[in-house]
Amino acid sequence: MRAGGRKNSAVAVLPAALLAGAPVRVDNLPRIADVAIMVRLLRGAGAQVRHDGPGALWIDPADFGPGPVDSVWAGRLRASYYLLGVSLARFGEADVPMPGGCDIGLRPIDQHVKGFAAMGADIDIAHGRIRARARRLRGAHIYLDVTSVGATINLMLAAVRAEGTTIIENAAKEPHVVDVATLLLAMGAAIVGAGTDVIKVRGGGELGGCQHTLIPDEIEAATYMIAAAGTGGDVVVENVIPRHLEPVTAKLGEAGVEVTVDGEAVRVRGPRRCRAVNLKTLPYPGFPTDAQQPMTALLTTAEGTSTVTETIWDGRFRFVDELLRMGARIRVDGRTAMIEGVRQLGGAPVHATELRGGAGLVLAGLFAEGETQVDAGDFVDRGYECIESKLAELGADITRETVPGDLTDALWPAGGASRAAAGSL
Ligand code: EPU
Repeated sequence: MRAGGRKNSAVAVLPAALLAGAPVRVDNLPRIADVAIMVRLLRGAGAQVRHDGPGALWIDPADFGPGPVDSVWAGRLRASYYLLGVSLARFGEADVPMPGGCDIGLRPIDQHVKGFAAMGADIDIAHGRIRARARRLRGAHIYLDVTSVGATINLMLAAVRAEGTTIIENAAKEPHVVDVATLLLAMGAAIVGAGTDVIKVRGGGELGGCQHTLIPDEIEAATYMIAAAGTGGDVVVENVIPRHLEPVTAKLGEAGVEVTVDGEAVRVRGPRRCRAVNLKTLPYPGFPTDAQQPMTALLTTAEGTSTVTETIWDGRFRFVDELLRMGARIRVDGRTAMIEGVRQLGGAPVHATELRGGAGLVLAGLFAEGETQVDAGDFVDRGYECIESKLAELGADITRETVPGDLTDALWPAGGASRAAAGSL
């Protein structure tokens, strides 16, 4: 199967296109709900967005304006906060609702606010909205207190139009930070250091239109790799950048999974039973928090006791309750889960409350004996394009039951609950 374009690049690159003085074309966009929501937000802000074949959109920012951003849609998406940086950069003002997104623990935006304030913006957060104003946005030296992907990207977006040079220290190094910088460079911005922990942006110039192809989604790829690992499968995932997958590949190797790289593809051969491993989520190049829940699902059936420590989002063990329904043996103590592997999970009806937890439950359904019904709401569709078709393509016994009127149905054709049964990939 083929991995699609990266969700967390897509939701940053689309608003970043509004910084240009001419249309921008983005290719390799995944058909996921978060992209659909971002498109609605761009249109709501005045931009013209036109489809141009599968995975391709043209964004014409000519009529983009600084009016208040719609709170219903922005409240459903974390990445709506990028409209703050973009609007401040273009108009010296922004009025954006507090961002939504998955409920995975506290998600403060103090580092975004601190950075914009250092660049000369007055920020007021009240009544669920963030209002920002800057007579002149100027470059600044900003040290992030925590390594934040969102703050790094948002400050880069503002900095490309600010007067003078901005230095972002302790910047996030995730590949999608680099992807956004690649787009901005193609638009004519002056940025060095993206992908390291110090990013320098010389701002102020006008930006032009360009074409940009999103990098592949390593979390989507990792999810299918873990599915193969847990079912003793033999699967090739194409369209990946193997370097980006290394934290996951290394852990799978420790668990006894054979992963071989062939150009832009990885082949994964799962053992009869995985071995227990210990892992800790960390900013890139550490083990990604977004792959933690699929990996935790895998470890429920590994031989031995694993420990998983989640350092980024303290709510990401909530899905453990659902795994317990399926017979998993897990004890969570603060930020660490101790997982005593069982021979097999038993299928059960389970309920997802956020994206990656939902993906973890779908995988658990594949690892289990009997049928599992995952009430996934619209969560899994936020970040996975047709997860049931891609898993079925790999040999899984999985079908979707459409729930009429769910968010994803309104935006893309498909949506609802997924049914997974034990299957070999
Ligand atoms: N943080 C702060 N203050 C801030 C910003 C972040 O304390 O101002 C803390 C957070 O509480 C968290 C840590 O810093 O503990 C990292 O947060 P970060 O800002 O990096 O996360 P984010 O930008 O809100 C993005 C992805 C998440 C992914 C994280 C970490 C998007 C839209 N979301 O979130 O993706 O988990 O980076 O890699 O890019 C997902 O795809 O399922 C997902 C949640």
